[in-house]
Amino acid sequence: MEKVEITWHDHHVTRQDRESLNGHGGGVVWFTGLSGSGKSTVANAVDKKLHDLGIHTFLLDGDNVRHGLNASTKILEDAYDAEFAKRFGLGFGAEDRTENIRRIGAVAELFCQAGVLVLTAFVSPYRADRAAVRNVVEASGGAGDFIEVFVDTPLEVCEQRDPKGLYKKARAGELKGFTGIDDPYEAPELPEVHLAGGSAPPDQLADQVIARLRELGKLP
Ligand code: PPS
Repeated sequence: MEKVEITWHDHHVTRQDRESLNGHGGGVVWFTGLSGSGKSTVANAVDKKLHDLGIHTFLLDGDNVRHGLNASTKILEDAYDAEFAKRFGLGFGAEDRTENIRRIGAVAELFCQAGVLVLTAFVSPYRADRAAVRNVVEASGGAGDFIEVFVDTPLEVCEQRDPKGLYKKARAGELKGFTGIDDPYEAPELPEVHLAGGSAPPDQLADQVIARLRELGKLP
């Protein structure tokens, strides 16, 4: 294997410098839940409310990130060629999901270092993948920098909502490996925030997240 020489560089401007400028700390607020659970909607509402409070936030969202950083094979085929797309394009197989979450975790950690409160909304169905991101974030920052938000909406409710018609396709066998149908969703065991998805409007669920962020000392 080719030997790669890389060296870590410390920067003059530290995370603390950036946080002082922002007036609050960085962190990763990691929403996880089934497709259709409402994680994007609630994360969006939290983003807006925090932004209005003067907090520096950024929202990384499943479908959007899969258009760029973690583009699908199809998108890369059109932009590059089949061989490149095969190598770097991401789908929904177990390995691809792991790589999807690993890359997002690395980006989230960078935002955290920039003193930004980054919100992420990905199905992130595998416990080990979420734990790996937590480790990366906490190793570079500290305990308390990774806040897991479980949007716990029953499968029946998600399936009834079916905003993209994907559950219908999965049930019909037209879409293989769909989370909750024929691919597992491993629910968080000890999330920092546990939302009963579907029990209240997104706006109220967002308020619950913000209240918990205050309790955890993540907001000034
Ligand atoms: S993952 O598992 O974290 O890598 O998934 P993520 O990047 O969040 O993308 C989930 C969205 O992609 C659509 N989609 C699927 N979801 C689950 N399983 C399969 N097989 C699948 N295929 C496509 C789905 O619409 C998800 O969107 P959300 O916003 O979660 O409903």
